[in-house]
Amino acid sequence: MTARVAVGIIGAGPSGLLLAQLLARRGISSRVLERSSREHVEGRVRAGVLEQPTVDTLHAAGVGERLAREGIVHHGIELRFAGAAQRIDFSALVPGRNITVYGQREVVRDLIATRLGDAAAGPEHLCFEVSDVEVAGLGDDQPVLSFTHAGRRQQLGCDWVVGCDGYHGVSRHWFPAQMSQAFEHVFPFAWLGVLAAVAPSTEELIYARHERGFALHSMRSPELSRFYLQVPADEDLASWSDARIWQELRTRLETVPGWRLESGPILEKGLAAMRSFVHEPMRYRRLLLAGDAAHIVPATGAKGLNLAVADVRLLGAALADWYERGSATGLDEYSAACLQRVWRVQQFSCWMTRLLHVLPTDDAFERRLQVAQLEAIAQSQAAATMLAENYVGLPPPGPSS
Ligand code: FAD
Ligand code: PHB
Repeated sequence: MTARVAVGIIGAGPSGLLLAQLLARRGISSRVLERSSREHVEGRVRAGVLEQPTVDTLHAAGVGERLAREGIVHHGIELRFAGAAQRIDFSALVPGRNITVYGQREVVRDLIATRLGDAAAGPEHLCFEVSDVEVAGLGDDQPVLSFTHAGRRQQLGCDWVVGCDGYHGVSRHWFPAQMSQAFEHVFPFAWLGVLAAVAPSTEELIYARHERGFALHSMRSPELSRFYLQVPADEDLASWSDARIWQELRTRLETVPGWRLESGPILEKGLAAMRSFVHEPMRYRRLLLAGDAAHIVPATGAKGLNLAVADVRLLGAALADWYERGSATGLDEYSAACLQRVWRVQQFSCWMTRLLHVLPTDDAFERRLQVAQLEAIAQSQAAATMLAENYVGLPPPGPSS
């Protein structure tokens, strides 16, 4: 006999876990199928900046307790360029709006602990180390997921299937080719990300444009700093010794008189491609996409996780409407509503990426223009406000779940 669940969710990243949690709070059953192990999912470092609507959604989902205790609220960021430092002051430019620094790893850990502690959710509602997930029955609105878990091939009938399986997932490829359109841009550079056991040398994030490339000083806690360096797209991680990383960070960040970067043990380093991607639409019949499965933005604007949460917030409310009131409106409007936000955020993320990175093909003229644009942001309140209002996040979509 085929097991049944209301919503089958592929992927236990922030999107899949948060959706399962929002649905559980409305009494809607789900099953999350994750390819990797729990340790792997909980160990990935990734994002660190949460917009206020993201924080609000995590609170509404009942997973905000540690976030409220350990998250660090920031009221500005710093731009560094041409030997100058310019603070973008959220309190002055977008009063009442701010960001919270709290790692994606912590968000995921909080969600997993809460989901696994949910005794009412039934057995195996969150499965790790699942392989070969496939779908059948999409064409006649009776989706059935097949997958291998604990050495056994299994079937799961669902009302709805949600692909939360990230950019490298399978669910997007289940759309019929004629109903699927992809837009993609790969940037000719990558980010080398570093987690270091040293107190941040700054209270707020520093985004630095340097002739040698972009650098970002972020953080995770009073004891942990996070850094990123622009490197060539085909960079070999092995060529970055710890000493070389600190040297390059100092070169690109110590450009303001008197400011010094503290160094410490490097706990982790990795490379991340910089890409833009949008899949349209985000729904085909009973299959829906959320988060990185449908869209990727370059990390400069710190938006990927926040976009994923915005999708899930809408989707959780739309599914609740369908189950509780028999209304299909939210689900019918889901794709268009998400995509409108996705393209706005894509535009901002690409703009901020172009503002701060030096492309190998940029000539002296382009480099001067880039600095002039940064100066315009430093001198014009209108230009700085545009950056600030996008950085703290667009107003939240739809009703809160
Ligand atoms: P993912 O986190 O990719 O999760 C997808 C899950 O699906 C994974 O667990 C994967 O193992 C699983 N999966 C994949 N395929 C299958 C399959 N076939 N079967 C079953 N499971 C599968 N965003 C921000 O908002 N702010 C930031 O500051 C920020 N910084 C970033 C820095 C870096 C270096 C990177 C790489 C990203 C950053 N992001 C940031 C983006 C953010 O991390 C992502 O947008 C976010 O992880 C998206 O969550 P998701 O759940 O949609 O996808
Ligand atoms: C991070 O802390 O990981 C981070 C912060 C800001 C970004 C991207 C990543 O723009």
